[in-house]
Amino acid sequence: MMPIIEAGAGEKLQRPALPTAEACTLVIFGASGDLTRRKLMPALYDLCNTGCTSACFDVLGTGRTPMTDEEFRRSLHDAAATSKDIRGFDEEKWAKFAARLHYLVGDPAKPDFFGQMKARLEAMQAKGSSANTLFYVSTPASLAGEIIDGLAAAGLNRNEKGWARIVLEKPFGHDLSSARALNERVLKVFDEANVYRIDHYLGKETVQNILVFRFANSIFEPVWNRNFIEYVEITAAETLGVERRAAFYEETGALRDMVANHILQLVALTAMEPPVAFDADSVREQKVQVFRSIRPMSVEEVAANTVRGQYGAGTIKDEAAPGYREEPGVKKDSRIETFAAVRLNIENWRWAGVPFYLRTGKRLGASLTEIRVHFRRTPQSLFAGTDQASYGPNMVSLRIQPNESISVSFGAKRPGSHMDTVPVEANFSYADAFGGQAPVAYETLILDAMRGDATLFTRRDEVEAEWRIITPIEEAWAKLPPPEFPNYAAGADGPEASGKLLAANGHEWMPIGQLEARKTNAD
Ligand code: BG6
Repeated sequence: MMPIIEAGAGEKLQRPALPTAEACTLVIFGASGDLTRRKLMPALYDLCNTGCTSACFDVLGTGRTPMTDEEFRRSLHDAAATSKDIRGFDEEKWAKFAARLHYLVGDPAKPDFFGQMKARLEAMQAKGSSANTLFYVSTPASLAGEIIDGLAAAGLNRNEKGWARIVLEKPFGHDLSSARALNERVLKVFDEANVYRIDHYLGKETVQNILVFRFANSIFEPVWNRNFIEYVEITAAETLGVERRAAFYEETGALRDMVANHILQLVALTAMEPPVAFDADSVREQKVQVFRSIRPMSVEEVAANTVRGQYGAGTIKDEAAPGYREEPGVKKDSRIETFAAVRLNIENWRWAGVPFYLRTGKRLGASLTEIRVHFRRTPQSLFAGTDQASYGPNMVSLRIQPNESISVSFGAKRPGSHMDTVPVEANFSYADAFGGQAPVAYETLILDAMRGDATLFTRRDEVEAEWRIITPIEEAWAKLPPPEFPNYAAGADGPEASGKLLAANGHEWMPIGQLEARKTNAD
C-alpha cells in the first residue's frame, strides 16, 4: 500500500540539524559494561560526528576492569564498527572520536576513588577538556547510592567552573521505598534540575511522536476518550532471552524491567491530558497525573488483573531456544517472571471504564512494540448482509518499533455490485516519509542531558508514582500461589492465561505473529 502521507511533494522530508550543546566531560560509571559498549558508545560516536556540541566532549570511563586508555578504546572499537545503531562507521572518524576516550580503573566503593577521579578530571581540564561535567551512572543499581555519596564527598557534585549533572540509569530502585531512598540520597547533593533519570523509551522518536500525533493534530483528540475508545492494548515483545544478564534479571523480572518504566511511560503518553507547554515540568506534570489516576491494586485485584509467565524450551523462527531455567546463570528452580500482562484502569474523566491491557515478555515469537487503540463499534450495523465483525471497529496503531509507523484501520466497500465491507488500513511509515536512520534513543537523551533539557527524563514524583503502581503487584505476587513455571514455550505469545484477562470483557490481544506480519511499510 502506498503511504497516504507524503512528505512535501513526494520528497523525503529532511531532518533538521540536531541542536547544539555546550562542551562537557562525560564521566561514565560502569564503562567496561554491556550498556556502554552496545548503546552509549555508538550514540556518542554519532553525536560527536554530527557536530552537535559546540566543541564536542571528552569521555572519562571508569570501571573495575583494569585497562589503559588505549585498551579501553580498543575494547569499544569492534562493537562500534558492527553496531547497527551507528549511521555509517568510518575508521578515520573513529580514530578522532577515540582520542577523546579516557579510562580510570577503580572501585567506587573505595574511599580514595573519587579523589583520584577529581585529580584525573583536573588533569584533563588542564589539557583543554571542559569543566562542565555529566556523570552517567550505568552500574548495578546497588552501587548508585555509593557513587552519589562519593561524588559529594569529593565535591564533584558542585562545580564552580561549570555545571555538574547526573544521569541515573534504570532500574531506579527496586520498589517504592528503595526509589524514595535513592531520590532522597541524590537530592541531598544534586538539585532536581541536575538529576536525569533515564528511561530510554522516551528517547525513541516514535515514543516522542505520540505527543505530536495527539497534540499537533486536531482530528484525533476529540475522539481520544472513553466515549469513543473501547480499550487500549500495548505489547512490547522480544525474541531475546536474558542474554548475559541473568544476574540482573533474576533480581528483576519482566514487571520491574519493562512494565515499571518503559510500558508505564507508553501508557502515560497515550493517556495524558495536553500539557500547557512543551517543557519539562508541564509534560511531566501531566504524566504524573495519569499515574496518580491508577489505583494501587489489592491482592485480590492483582490475582484478577495480572498474569505472569516464564518461558520453557521452544522454537523461535525455526531455531530451538532453551527454557529460562536452562539459561546460563539462572537458578534451576527460578520463580522469576519473563512475561507479565496487566489490566489497568485509569480512573479519571477521560478514561474511566476503558481497560488498558499491557503485556511484555522475553522469548516471544517476534520483537516489536505497538500501541493499539481500539475504537467502539458504530451504533448500528447499517450495511445489510454484511457481517460488521468482518471489518471490525476502527483502530489506531502506533508502531513504536521496528518498521516505525502509524496506521488507522477502517471499513471500506469492496469494489463490485455487493455492498461488501472489508477492513483496510491507511499507513504512515517513518522510513517512507523521512528516509534515513533517525537518531537512536541514547543519542537523543545524552544530547538532551548535555543541553540541560529534562523533558524526556523522569521526575522524582514520576518514578515514585510508577513504583506506587508496581510495588503492590510485586508484593501480591509474593503472597499468591505461584503459577506452574515454565508456563509458555519460547516462541509462543506468553501463557494462555494472558488471553483471559481480555476475554472477560470480550476483547482479545492481536496475536504477536499477526502483529509482525501486518504490513507497516509501503511496498
Ligand atoms: C531494557 C531492559 O531497559 O530495555 C531489557 O532492561 C530490554 O531487558 C530492553 O531488552 C528493551 O529495549 P529496546 O529498546 O530494545 O526495546
